[in-house]
Amino acid sequence: MCGIVGYLGTKERVGLLLEGLKELEYRGYDSAGLALLGEGAPLQVFKTSGKISALEHLVQGVRTQGLGVGIAHTRWATHGKPTQENAHPHVYQHSALVHNGIIENYALLKAQLEQKGHLFSSQTDSEVVVHLFEDMLETTPANNVDQALQVFKNTIAQLEGAYAILLISARFPTCIFYAKNHSPLILATGKEGVYFASAQNALVGHAQQMVRLGEGSVGVLDWQHPIDLNRLGVVQPIAQDCQQSSKEGFSTFMEKEIYEQPKVLSLLGRLCGDRVCLELPEGFLEGISCISISACGTSYHAGLVGKYLIESLARVRVQVELASEYRYANPATQEGELFIAISQSGESADTLEALRLAKALGLKTLSLCNTQNSSMAGMADALLLTHAGLERSVASTKAFASQVLVLWLLALQLAQERHALYPNTLQVQMQALQGSLQAMQEGLEWQSQVRTLSAQILERDLKGYFFMGRGVFYPLALEGALKLKEIAYVHAQGYASAEMKHGPIALADSSLLSTTLLPQHLLFAKNLSNVEELRARDSLIFALSPIKLEEATFQIQTRAYDHYMPEFFHMLVILQLFALEMAQLKGLDVDKPRNLAKSVTVE
Ligand code: M6R
Repeated sequence: MCGIVGYLGTKERVGLLLEGLKELEYRGYDSAGLALLGEGAPLQVFKTSGKISALEHLVQGVRTQGLGVGIAHTRWATHGKPTQENAHPHVYQHSALVHNGIIENYALLKAQLEQKGHLFSSQTDSEVVVHLFEDMLETTPANNVDQALQVFKNTIAQLEGAYAILLISARFPTCIFYAKNHSPLILATGKEGVYFASAQNALVGHAQQMVRLGEGSVGVLDWQHPIDLNRLGVVQPIAQDCQQSSKEGFSTFMEKEIYEQPKVLSLLGRLCGDRVCLELPEGFLEGISCISISACGTSYHAGLVGKYLIESLARVRVQVELASEYRYANPATQEGELFIAISQSGESADTLEALRLAKALGLKTLSLCNTQNSSMAGMADALLLTHAGLERSVASTKAFASQVLVLWLLALQLAQERHALYPNTLQVQMQALQGSLQAMQEGLEWQSQVRTLSAQILERDLKGYFFMGRGVFYPLALEGALKLKEIAYVHAQGYASAEMKHGPIALADSSLLSTTLLPQHLLFAKNLSNVEELRARDSLIFALSPIKLEEATFQIQTRAYDHYMPEFFHMLVILQLFALEMAQLKGLDVDKPRNLAKSVTVE
């Protein structure tokens, strides 16, 4: 959460910082700000609530010259409302600071500083750090950068929690102090200076080489002293193709990414003749006794689909846990257990920590990531990239489809290696895999009908939306509900169809819409009974099924396929389009929904 950019050098800094922030806007976009300092130039701070476009407007005409430093921030609020006061940088008398993460002991530190007479101007946890630094500088005056660094280190030592911090001070106008603990921060170099950022895409076109700062890194960049990246970590080139893409004629990134699904989900390279050949280390899947999957949000839903596929195809027991729960659950492990972390971004704090815990518990680990240079990608014993391409919309679409596909391939490879499937069953699965790509393409054809239905549904002014399915269609129902609430801001809930009668059906009446997934090839009759039960209580039914349903208030009569997995991918696209159309009809910001961020790097 939150995006940070920093620069020390001779380039014009306002444009550079804004450019970097725009690339990081997916990390939070409720307020933004920047601070500038230079040789002979005073500390200047600009900040505002709203998106980066508002900051851009605020700094119109502001330009820097000569050597100096700049730090910038785009915020996703944790402590305090998204106001101008709570926007970063936070400033005290001569210093300014940007922070990503959460300072857990801020209340205690703040109370101690207030007793000493410090007056705070925000409700944030972050502001305490700049006060603490200046307070310590008062008691331990620093006459040079080395001494100031020691004071900064003492400041950081007081903090508990997660942080990526950049601090500049008018007393040391060509220095940036930095600290990193469990929040991402990279340090990079280019011809005309040194750069910091939360992610490398902020630095494309400026920096050439970077290191991911290690946990507990604290230091200072000083223009007087050349930097040696090799001393700080593994030096990597900045991937020059990782910047945000354009909408390419689509109205939103979400729509573009939904349409990209059939293209990006190519199986090429992972099918060798009639066998699956994932790029895993030799013997990696041998001796696996059970699997634990951990993830958040949409990636968690993909993990649930993976459980059904792996258990039914490879006959290996799988448990799926929300990463935020796994990390504090004191999990019991088993000999031969494989731990799989799933994450589009590879940066979700909860999933990262779950993976760390699994490693510490001695489990064999595998990351399923969409982002090659992410923190998670390099952490596990093995990596499977989902190859969905950069996903820019906050609501995840193509990443989910690619995660399910890779989990399906993993289930098949496991099944192959354990001889769990007859050759003809494997053949049927291969055909279903190929058919699923086509089914997604065909799912796109429903967009205009989905729009018409969405308009009719919105006219009803409903109080709630249920999504129901069985087997792999249960996590698909969860995902359909999550998409709708994320971007259309309505109360939507996913259920396993048969659970309805154990409680939720109490809500059924004519102001409830139950979107029901009734594939032809998985428990059709059972699902139909659950639809009848809801209809008997006046709930409106939105059915997705290839079979015509008299009971449905609304129906998309989906295409018929000869396996339930193509049906799954076909319905996935329709559910994504449903959320998209509902949000667009309500005139909402589809790509940047309120209160959310693309990459959730706090607990
Ligand atoms: O990058 P990750 O896959 O780890 O992200 C996990 C969730 O934050 C993410 O899937 C979130 O639920 C999406 N906004 C869903 O559309």
